[in-house]
Amino acid sequence: MTEYKTPMPEAGEYDIDIATGREKSPEVGRIVCDGLVKIYKVEDLEVVALQGLDLIVESGEMVAIVGASGSGKSTLLNILGGLDTASAGRAWVAGHDLLAMDDADRVTYRRWTIGFVWQQTGRNLLPYLTASENISVPLAVAGISEKVRSDRVDELLDVVSLSHRRDHRPDEMSGGEQQRVAVATALANQPSVLLADEPTGELDTDTSAEVFEVLRSASHDLGVTVLVLTHDPLVSGQVERTVAIRDGRTSSETVRRNMGDEVIAHDYAVLDKVGRLQLPAEYVEALNLDRLVRLELEPDHIGVWPDRDPEGEENDG
Ligand SMILES: Nc1ncnc2c1ncn2[C@@H]1O[C@H](COP(=O)(O)OP(=O)(O)OP(=O)(O)O)[C@@H](O)[C@H]1O
Ligand SMILES: [Mg+2]
Repeated sequence: MTEYKTPMPEAGEYDIDIATGREKSPEVGRIVCDGLVKIYKVEDLEVVALQGLDLIVESGEMVAIVGASGSGKSTLLNILGGLDTASAGRAWVAGHDLLAMDDADRVTYRRWTIGFVWQQTGRNLLPYLTASENISVPLAVAGISEKVRSDRVDELLDVVSLSHRRDHRPDEMSGGEQQRVAVATALANQPSVLLADEPTGELDTDTSAEVFEVLRSASHDLGVTVLVLTHDPLVSGQVERTVAIRDGRTSSETVRRNMGDEVIAHDYAVLDKVGRLQLPAEYVEALNLDRLVRLELEPDHIGVWPDRDPEGEENDG
């Protein structure tokens, strides 16, 4: 059992690593994926779930990864969470080189560096324990004294605004409340990174907004890096940055900024290391682009034209 080497930090002192007692570096929650590849082998068949995925998430940022079913979201989460290993490429999370870790390193990594929130509340919470007991479990496993544990549980219930539900079991709470307790439980050991796979998949719009509110406080107030993986494009309204994943590769990003009362969203395409970028499907359709396009370098932009006479077939011959 891991013993704390230093006293538990006070509320808000998230810049101290409670496992080592050392000050956390600013890189503490940074995620970097560089050409990540994952190939699953099923009998004689190979499924390429990630094909050269690039991603950078800064420490304390909250980012949604949005993609259709089968695009590779859970595969990415399993690799970043130390539950699975990549076939090729590199990944670093909070200063850990994921490809250099052995099984023992991964156990420590999952306990201290990563917090998980899953779609199914049954995977997040034990049904026969109350909210406060559930949050207490990871702290007890880590060998934390009862007094410190109880203070920490109070603090976490406050973070997710559920102090009034502390003695309720999961079946005595709404779906949204259960997921907020799940977030509190995931935050118990002060992870640098919170990974959430479809955390609001079973909730209605209003309730999922409440869960996102709690995830935002984890990111803004506690400085935890939050990565949410979802198929729901509407989630981009809840986060500052949305990264689209398609066929195991990041393809585009939307960045939202508050300008006074207005929220301005900018769309970007992701340019990979060898210069490839994916055009949005609606652009391709609008100009009926097909296979070859003409490129022209202008002083401040690049023009992309369909490879045919602009007036169409009438001018041919
Ligand atoms: N253990 C596995 N063995 C074989 N193939 C797998 C395995 N896990 C995932 N895959 C395949 O890898 C691809 C990516 O799957 P993944 O679960 O990462 O997608 P996802 O984006 O999470 O989808 P969903 O939204 O349905 O959860 C899919 O083609 C899937 O069938
Ligand atoms: Mg999935």
